[in-house]
Amino acid sequence: MEQIVVTGGRALNGSVAVCGAKNAVLKHLVAMLLAPGVHRIDNVPGIADVEIMCRVLEYIGAECHRDGTSLRVEVPGELRPEAPIELVRKMRASILVLGTLLARCGEARVALPGGDDFGSRPIDMHLDGLEALGAHFELRHGVLHASAPGGLRGTEVSLEFPSVGATENVLFGAVMASGRTVISNAAREPEIADLAAALGGMGAHIQGAGTSTMEIEGVGELGPMQHRVVPDRLEAGTYLVGAALAGGDVTVTGCVPAHLRMELRKLGEAGCEIETGDDWVRLVGPGERPNPVDFATLPYPGFHTDMHPQMVALLSLASGTSVITENIYEARFRYVGELNRLGADVITEGQHVIIRGVERLSGCPVDACDIRAGAALVLAGLRADGYTIVANAGHIDRGYQNFVPNLAALGADVRRESVSD
Ligand code: UD1
Repeated sequence: MEQIVVTGGRALNGSVAVCGAKNAVLKHLVAMLLAPGVHRIDNVPGIADVEIMCRVLEYIGAECHRDGTSLRVEVPGELRPEAPIELVRKMRASILVLGTLLARCGEARVALPGGDDFGSRPIDMHLDGLEALGAHFELRHGVLHASAPGGLRGTEVSLEFPSVGATENVLFGAVMASGRTVISNAAREPEIADLAAALGGMGAHIQGAGTSTMEIEGVGELGPMQHRVVPDRLEAGTYLVGAALAGGDVTVTGCVPAHLRMELRKLGEAGCEIETGDDWVRLVGPGERPNPVDFATLPYPGFHTDMHPQMVALLSLASGTSVITENIYEARFRYVGELNRLGADVITEGQHVIIRGVERLSGCPVDACDIRAGAALVLAGLRADGYTIVANAGHIDRGYQNFVPNLAALGADVRRESVSD
């Protein structure tokens, strides 16, 4: 098992460059299945989830080759339209192959993902949207058998909620469907706009990406992708919260500040000084304890659910009480008990998190239960007395390349260790 040991008390100073976005690149890889040939994407982060998605693609028949921060993927003419439970369990984003395999092969067999640490996580909107395009689904022994005997046909899809995954699956189904598809109440995340740009480069006709209404005119075939992945706003935001927690002066480079508007606003309310340029954000931490801040997680452009645990770590030291409402995942609270082990005073009431700021945290062993929870606990450790040991650090590797070396380069006293059970 891997663990991260962080000794609190040092400020962070300097600059850190972010990688391409995990939540974009995984979808780009799935999109490649839509066209045979040799695809290439640049600015690919070195994170575990990219490796898992490459395994999904390889299972389906593609070959993936990494060359530094680029990935070359060869997609054959014939695919095996399947994603087994072992891979889907490792990474839920695997279910996005439903739309691409239906579009490309007219059929797909994908294990139903089930729930996870964030709650029940249904995929009903993905299935409703694809059904509207002409797909049929049957669940047999835990596997969704999908078919589109008459091919996929463009139609109007109105999503009940602007789900990122459902928008992507419907988009995949629509780009090669006959006729025109309109997705209303589509997700507006920057990663969706980036996916649409990547698909546009392959020859897809998509308008309105990044807005609530997307219009897709189906085309007969697509060509290989050549694309550079949009910067990771969550990686950028995590380092900024780290600077706010530990104190100091940190510039995050290679990011898109506009993608972090709500998160930066809340960090400003907490007392941080923030300056932005074209592709950088500089944050100077509050000299004293942060101010309490209230917010609700919402679909983009609201405050991102994946920045909630890091922000709670910061607000655990605030000079008052903060209230956060988690609107995306009803059960995203496993990390709260771990944060309280460090001395935080956080309680949950339904989907609300009530954080009574404390004067200090004190280091102890804690468990990283998921990617962002793990990152949040390491950041809390930067400000805790003594040392904090974050177990199950492998979770953090799913979403952050060089997390520990990057924090160390900014001045943190942090190291990684392998331990036997
Ligand atoms: C979510 C994030 C996305 C991030 C991704 C990876 C939001 C809105 N989405 O996307 O920004 O890139 O995690 O961390 O912040 N739901 C249904 N039925 C469905 C699909 C979704 O009820 O068919 C519900 C989910 O349970 C959840 C909400 O809708 O409560 C948002 O889900 P969705 O945006 O689809 O989640 P992801 O695609 O995982």
